[in-house]
Amino acid sequence: MTIALVTGAARGIGAAIAHRLAAAGHRLVLVDLNPAVRDSAAAMDAVAVEADIATAPGRAAIRDAVHAAGEPLGVLVNNAGITRDALVADLTEDMFRQVTRINLGATYELTSALAADMADDGAVVNIGSRAHLGNVGQFNYAMSKAGIVGLTRSLALAYAPRLRVNAVAPGFIATDMTDAMPVRVRERIVSRVPLRKPGRPEDIAGAVAWLASPEARYVTGQLVYCCGGRSYGTTEGTAT
Ligand code: NAI
Repeated sequence: MTIALVTGAARGIGAAIAHRLAAAGHRLVLVDLNPAVRDSAAAMDAVAVEADIATAPGRAAIRDAVHAAGEPLGVLVNNAGITRDALVADLTEDMFRQVTRINLGATYELTSALAADMADDGAVVNIGSRAHLGNVGQFNYAMSKAGIVGLTRSLALAYAPRLRVNAVAPGFIATDMTDAMPVRVRERIVSRVPLRKPGRPEDIAGAVAWLASPEARYVTGQLVYCCGGRSYGTTEGTAT
């Protein structure tokens, strides 16, 4: 049995990914800033780490927890992410820095910190977003998620042939993050999704589980869109 580590696992997409990987037979280490991660972990006999992936002490605590778990790390899912949306004129330096720091910088730093601990044939899956195609009101977020594409492709080359590194780009998924948007914005986005409905966290979990599994043994450096067909549009306003 190998360990699967999921960041941002207290709720939403991360919690769904954790459940799916547990069902696939992995032992889970769940990471989140939110103390609710302990409840999620208790429900699936997993290890909880309450830590900030964007700080060195946070990443050290995560690494210690992986070592203490006593089994090889087979899967790393970099899911934790934030939005701080604003039109460009209102975007503060702080909003810009926070989003790029957590979504992109910390993803790179945590992966580098854990790569040496990963089992041969291990899999890293990064959670990007179809917003990397460009979104008005999400300059910082779109940039951070575009960075995830370049990071994924570069890490795939750097760690081949030992590890595979891929990314999933969700479209509009019904979670607390998107519930924070005004109803009219949500309705407008869904009306533009070719499949005409929001995705569910489980839909993303399914794509992640496949990329993490031996079924995807010949797939690395790829971005898998999971967005109801919406990756065709590029200029539609705010949406994660
Ligand atoms: P969410 O806001 O419901 O959950 C994110 C989790 O990450 C939270 O539990 C939060 O506490 C944790 N987190 C944030 N910063 C952290 C840090 N520095 N250290 C540790 N944990 C931290 O978000 P949701 O919707 O589940 O999104 C998960 C991922 O999917 C994010 O990367 C997001 O950008 C991406 N995504 C979401 C979409 C959506 O429609 N919901 C669409 C496209 C991408």
